[in-house]
Amino acid sequence: MAVDLSQVAHVETEPGELPATMAAWVIRQDREGEPIDAFQVEEIEVPEPAAFEVIVRVMAAGVNFNNVWAARGVPVSVFRSHPEVDHHIGGSDGSGIVWKVGAGVTRWKPGDEVVIHCNQASYEDPEVHGFDPLAAPSQKIWGYETSWGSFAQFTKVQAQQLLPKPHNLTWEESAAYGLTYFTAYRMLIDQCELQAGHRVLIWGAAGGLGVFATQLCKIAGARSVGVVNSDEKGELVARLGAEGFINRNEFAGMMRTGGETPEEEKARFGESRRFGKAVKEILGASPDIVFEHVGQATFPTSVFVVKPFGKVVICAGTTGYNLDFDVRYLWMRQKQIIGSHFANAWECNKANELIENGLIRPVLWRTMPFDGVGEAHQLMRENKHLGKIAILVGAEREGLGKTAEGPGAIYAEVGV
Ligand SMILES: NC(=O)c1ccc[n+]([C@@H]2O[C@H](COP(=O)([O-])OP(=O)(O)OC[C@H]3O[C@@H](n4cnc5c(N)ncnc54)[C@H](OP(=O)(O)O)[C@@H]3O)[C@@H](O)[C@H]2O)c1
Repeated sequence: MAVDLSQVAHVETEPGELPATMAAWVIRQDREGEPIDAFQVEEIEVPEPAAFEVIVRVMAAGVNFNNVWAARGVPVSVFRSHPEVDHHIGGSDGSGIVWKVGAGVTRWKPGDEVVIHCNQASYEDPEVHGFDPLAAPSQKIWGYETSWGSFAQFTKVQAQQLLPKPHNLTWEESAAYGLTYFTAYRMLIDQCELQAGHRVLIWGAAGGLGVFATQLCKIAGARSVGVVNSDEKGELVARLGAEGFINRNEFAGMMRTGGETPEEEKARFGESRRFGKAVKEILGASPDIVFEHVGQATFPTSVFVVKPFGKVVICAGTTGYNLDFDVRYLWMRQKQIIGSHFANAWECNKANELIENGLIRPVLWRTMPFDGVGEAHQLMRENKHLGKIAILVGAEREGLGKTAEGPGAIYAEVGV
């Protein structure tokens, strides 16, 4: 049946009762490929909540790089993570209204306004109780390793994923920070024990992770330098509190492409050294922390430029995940490499308080209508965006949902 997208902001039931079907953006295994084609709108049955689950009516959704990977089916098909359903409804960020709760849910009730964090784990895994849910064998990222994500009128989540929606934000602003902000929070605050006075190098500082890493450094009293691919993006990073920025186009030769000859590697290393000097000029010394997610292209430079006993914290390998670097710079100078993945519910709640207090702000580049899901992911795939992109679902227009005064989002209006 054709889905009437003009009706997406309307639902026929009241909180507590679910309609039979909903509009959803769906990836199917046989159409994995470029995001613009892989995502298609379909009419899907609305799931019932099981015990400790909640069905949320999505008011706005946030776009993340994980569903660029999901659309393309690389590095692995998401259908391997959720073989029990043949559709993938992506979307790992969302704001909305609790519509129906499953057995055992007592903290939330129909009508509550929420944002959703994207970590799921089974309550039966012992790691969840006293260690860290990220260590649980059942751990999955909702809307990436599960279906039933936020690019639909309704989403199915575990009750522990819900956070109070900040009153000072609109629906679209509330949908545009969770995944990348909470990831950056764990990387810097918990994994690296960020302190006032620390110096931090942030790759992709105008991207989804980088805009929050930069703000966290600012409020912690740390000094950051952001790497970007244009001066316009650099202006945004400076607005967010960085000490300065480096346009990576001026150091294109430092990027590891793989398979360099010894001569090429020598030239590449020379460029990394020149880059390290530029970082020192801005920060006054080498960084204590390098915030990594680019991976193959930048990792040898990250390990080289971080100061002795410093930390390279990494959560992704966008340019490639087989990392190749000169390990002498690691052991001789006693540096650490720390892997990090999303955040636990406690970290999400602590980080959310900083948003509620206006100390950290979402950075929105564009808010797009529901029919923009494929296009938004294609823009992200082509690195044409800054900060975050939000999608309106239940919200009829931008600017709705804010119930208290507050600074709201920073709007990244500079061009690309
Ligand atoms: N493990 C986790 O929990 C987790 C959480 C969030 C994200 N991630 C992953 O982290 C990665 C980044 O996510 P994001 O949301 O920040 O994406 P994003 O919004 O696309 O930002 C990434 C930034 O990286 C920079 N970049 C891209 N290609 C580069 C290259 N070849 N060399 C240097 N810099 C490059 C770009 O900045 P410039 O072009 O301006 O330099 C871009 O703004 C993705 O792979 C995502 O899946 C992992």
